[in-house]
Amino acid sequence: MDFAQRAAQLSEAIISHRHWLHQHAELSLQEHETTAYLAGQLRELGIPVQTFEDYPGCIATIQGGKPGKTVMLRADIDALPIQENSGVDFQSQNPGVMHACGHDCHASMLLGAAQMLWESREELNGTVKLLFQSGEEVFIGSHYYWDQGHLSDVDAAMGLHVWATAPSGSLCVQDGPLMASCDNFKITVHGVSCHGSTPNIGKDAIVAASAIIMALQTVVSRISDPRDMLVVTVGKIQAGTQFNIITDTAVLEGTVRAHGPEARQLAADNIRRIVETTAAAMGCTADLEYNFLEPPVRNDDIALNEIARGAARKLFGPEVLATTTPATGSEDFSYLMEKIPSSLFVFLGCYDEETDSVHPVHNEKFKINEDILQVGAAHYAQFAADYLAKNAGGAQ
Ligand code: NI
Repeated sequence: MDFAQRAAQLSEAIISHRHWLHQHAELSLQEHETTAYLAGQLRELGIPVQTFEDYPGCIATIQGGKPGKTVMLRADIDALPIQENSGVDFQSQNPGVMHACGHDCHASMLLGAAQMLWESREELNGTVKLLFQSGEEVFIGSHYYWDQGHLSDVDAAMGLHVWATAPSGSLCVQDGPLMASCDNFKITVHGVSCHGSTPNIGKDAIVAASAIIMALQTVVSRISDPRDMLVVTVGKIQAGTQFNIITDTAVLEGTVRAHGPEARQLAADNIRRIVETTAAAMGCTADLEYNFLEPPVRNDDIALNEIARGAARKLFGPEVLATTTPATGSEDFSYLMEKIPSSLFVFLGCYDEETDSVHPVHNEKFKINEDILQVGAAHYAQFAADYLAKNAGGAQ
């Protein structure tokens, strides 16, 4: 099948799916209407789809006409707690909830790809699974489908995200790091409370917490290799009740982002050291809860990346391929990337001044030029077909 041509024919349908999903934006792990819509559309096409009683999202399975491997395509489906201010005429009907990360685009493109792969199933050398995934924005949404065993037969996988640092309609299929790991920490500083006028008889948890925050800045500036991407952010501080009380408790929360496992571990080790020793230097103690949440997104399977680049070139010519700076944001597809033998993540550029699509994801004004949806849908489908064709020999 000529997926570029078929995707162009389906463009209007893909856009109308996107409008429906955009208008019915739902928060992470609550995408029940969204799931019902997606499953309904898939079933209407005749595609077998599995839904879950205890969890949103669904998995469609397209069995090819010839034997072979199993490839998975993934789209996330959740929205964000943001009041939309994008000016589009299909604005979210759920107040305070907006598809500001483009997951409505991903789901509608994957619906388009599902239709094309279903129509061409007799030609496929294996099986395509299409995962419409809940709860990406809360970091843990992808776990369920793997942990429940629904993806254990998957040999290779591709995820995709619309991305505002790349030109509209371009495809970034890059080797190496693409998005960061996400680990969070919570520090509780314990001191001794007393009257604000007699600091000498207390142990001020606020002063100790302040020293910890400042010392944590040296993890990136003085401890980490400057060539390694690393972010350490304290994003929340809670302490004290009144101006004239020296408090005995301060709680800090923060996040760490890295592109490589070494920088990730280095941050964890040094944050622990700094928290404990700095609290002690101030006569306090501190507890550290450190949660390794999501690994980085890395496209380290170069042969698979080549299949995806080849698919892009075949569809739209070499000029469709672009590169962009690896992001410091995170993506819970990385959990599946760690489990599935072979995987990659692709950015679909969406920066377009002509349609004022210039706002980053997670912004209340985020929007896209919808002409790019057919590009993503075609690429999803072509990648799956090409992967299966290329690996047909070894799968009998
Ligand atoms: Ni996103």
